[in-house]
Amino acid sequence: MTTTLDDLTTLRDWLRYAVSRFTAARLVYGHGTSTALDEAAFLILSALHLPVDALDPWLDARLTREERARLSELIEARITTRKPAPYLVNAAYIRGHKFFVDERVIVPRSFIGELICDLMEGDDELAVFTDDPASVRRVLDLCTGSGCLAILAAIAFSDAQVDAADISEDALAVAEQNVADYGLADRVRPIRSDLFGALKGERYDLVISNPPYVTRPAVEAFPPEYRAEPTLAHLGGEDGLDLVRLILDAAPEHLTPNGQLVVEIGQGRELLEAEYPHLPFIWLDTAESSGEVFRIGAAELAGTNKKRRKG
Ligand SMILES: C[S@@+](CC[C@H](N)C(=O)[O-])C[C@H]1O[C@@H](n2cnc3c(N)ncnc32)[C@H](O)[C@@H]1O
Repeated sequence: MTTTLDDLTTLRDWLRYAVSRFTAARLVYGHGTSTALDEAAFLILSALHLPVDALDPWLDARLTREERARLSELIEARITTRKPAPYLVNAAYIRGHKFFVDERVIVPRSFIGELICDLMEGDDELAVFTDDPASVRRVLDLCTGSGCLAILAAIAFSDAQVDAADISEDALAVAEQNVADYGLADRVRPIRSDLFGALKGERYDLVISNPPYVTRPAVEAFPPEYRAEPTLAHLGGEDGLDLVRLILDAAPEHLTPNGQLVVEIGQGRELLEAEYPHLPFIWLDTAESSGEVFRIGAAELAGTNKKRRKG
């Protein structure tokens, strides 16, 4: 270890070293990065308290002995624990929005987050979520985890009150911390609820949800990086759609007459459309995904239970 600390002096040296070690260790990515280089850059920049989106200004910077010791520890930890980098530095980002994370919550990477950022950045119309953005006064983020989507929704819909529901006390503690960090405690309310269970009588203009939707076989085959996250955040039953069905069935009771439901479902589109043939799902694509997020209005949802084609 002493040799490594002495041999590697610049940030570029450490970046190269981390990429070599990560590649040799055959790490798996997918928690905000997709390559060894991106993962190494994220880990190193985070550890040095530098902006995570710019390497170039610092590549030739020499690091103090203390900084090198910290990087050495983190690179070893990434390889030996196989925890995703965001857990090691307690931070994850959605388009520059930073969230505290640890093993109590899944690492944020929802396509709904991308869509909300698109509309905040003016790249898309608010109409992606609703035909009448000004009327959005109450939002529910169901299965909130770290609270990331609830917080982004509160920023995007600045007049709205947002409920952030999750069944996990652990996740809600993290959500509460993020809500406080964003100074949104007066508008975002973390609530412990099994789906809509604790929300009887509550109606929303917009319900967003990134529920657990991974199939059991896929969860059982997870690499260590994904096993490091709460199984409760991933497992959506045998075919991945258990919670999506429950959300569709209960949503009509919780939407205002013009309310909209937006749900991320992973790879289940075909299955869902076969099971609910009369529901006119609108599929919201992102730069990275196609057919993984649907939107549907309260009026179209009414009577879902009757229309469902049981398999
Ligand atoms: C895929 S994670 C999404 C977290 C966050 N919204 C995000 O996009 O990063 C799913 C979340 O659903 C929660 N969850 C699982 N079953 C639930 C249930 N029956 N009711 C409410 N939340 C549930 C998990 O605790 C987890 O935080």
